[in-house]
Amino acid sequence: MKQKIIVTGGCGYIGSHTVVELITHNFEVVILDDLSNSNIKTLDRIAKITGIRPIFEQLDLKNSEQTKAVFQKHKDTAAVVHFAAYKAVAESVQNPVMYYKNNFFSLLNTLEAQLEQGINNFIFSSSATVYGEPKKLPITEENQVQRPFSPYGNTKKIAEEILEDMVKAHQDFSTISLRYFNPIGAHLSGNLGELPNGIPNNLMPYITQTAAGIRKELQVFGNDYDTKDGTAIRDYIHVVDLADAHVKTVKRLLNKKQEKSLEIFNLGTGNGYTVLEVIQSFEKITKKPLNYKIVSRRAGDVPALYASTELAKEKLNWETQLNIDDMVASSWKWEENLKNEKN
Ligand code: NAD
Ligand code: UD1
Repeated sequence: MKQKIIVTGGCGYIGSHTVVELITHNFEVVILDDLSNSNIKTLDRIAKITGIRPIFEQLDLKNSEQTKAVFQKHKDTAAVVHFAAYKAVAESVQNPVMYYKNNFFSLLNTLEAQLEQGINNFIFSSSATVYGEPKKLPITEENQVQRPFSPYGNTKKIAEEILEDMVKAHQDFSTISLRYFNPIGAHLSGNLGELPNGIPNNLMPYITQTAAGIRKELQVFGNDYDTKDGTAIRDYIHVVDLADAHVKTVKRLLNKKQEKSLEIFNLGTGNGYTVLEVIQSFEKITKKPLNYKIVSRRAGDVPALYASTELAKEKLNWETQLNIDDMVASSWKWEENLKNEKN
């Protein structure tokens, strides 16, 4: 019999790619999502790729009673992968209450409801933002966690502290927190990808929307960093590689391979690229010049961030397979598909 996995936020960007990989690896998936930052059509997209439509429960995880009822209905679940959260950094600075409320109520209601049903495996979407401006590169999991610049980032730091308390209080509870670096790219079929609401904040969707003529020009935030071309360095990771890491993490939990009841892994490639290098890759792949201009630095940005991937390699038996050109090419394929769908 297939093992059942609850994926909160499974209609979102990373969640939907993870659902595809879980289904491909023969898991039965139940998506819980309120569609606040995603679209119901994602279920069709997943079905088109995998041939299987996941079970879908539309609910706001801020609602404790409804969350409990859904977990009661799916009490035969083996593990929960928790993606549901708000994630726009600038919006969280403007509206901290909205972010603390959604990200914590959703987390706490999920934890409470799963414990009530004796579901003891939990995977959490954390972020490299918990490292703040690191003193040492590449960043290992031992790097000190700092108070993040934004309320959004702070929800990730505090959530990990909540998980520390959870494993102390509940002997059977096992959890893995995954610190993502910069997920970009789309499913290689071009049938699934990121659907940013309004004007994108992140680099890759801004690039593809500029090339597609939706935005006039890309602003490159700062060329006076101490890097090879002056622009900031990030560890971009293909969302399909990231999704694959979640399958390996689920298996680690289900096969009881954990060495500690709370484990933390960086998910990145270990390679850093500057903003201009990403643009160069885009221009090379698409053979299109990109309209961009250099402007001043963006508040809160750090000069360079890239992961040490040793721990994930060793413990999850996971390595990334796709490079920056694959990330850029798939993002562009997705953007073009979206354009064709609209026409
Ligand atoms: P996303 O916004 O595409 O997906 C999140 C999903 O959660 C959406 O489908 C949304 O509708 C749903 N959701 C939000 N609040 C909900 C609620 N109260 N009840 C039910 N559903 C709710 O985001 P994503 O990029 O797929 O990110 C997934 C997770 O990974 C988030 O926790 C995010 O903070 C984390 N993360 C993302 C990145 C990134 O660059 N995308 C980086 C680091 C960490
Ligand atoms: C941001 C968030 C981080 C979050 C992640 C995923 C901040 C400070 N950090 O990471 O907490 O986990 O998104 O949501 O917001 N850039 C441009 N022009 C643009 C957009 C970006 O030059 O229009 C540059 C940025 O300065 C940065 C790089 O591109 O150097 C990547 O930016 P982005 O995609 O926003 O990711 P992060 O800032 O690394």
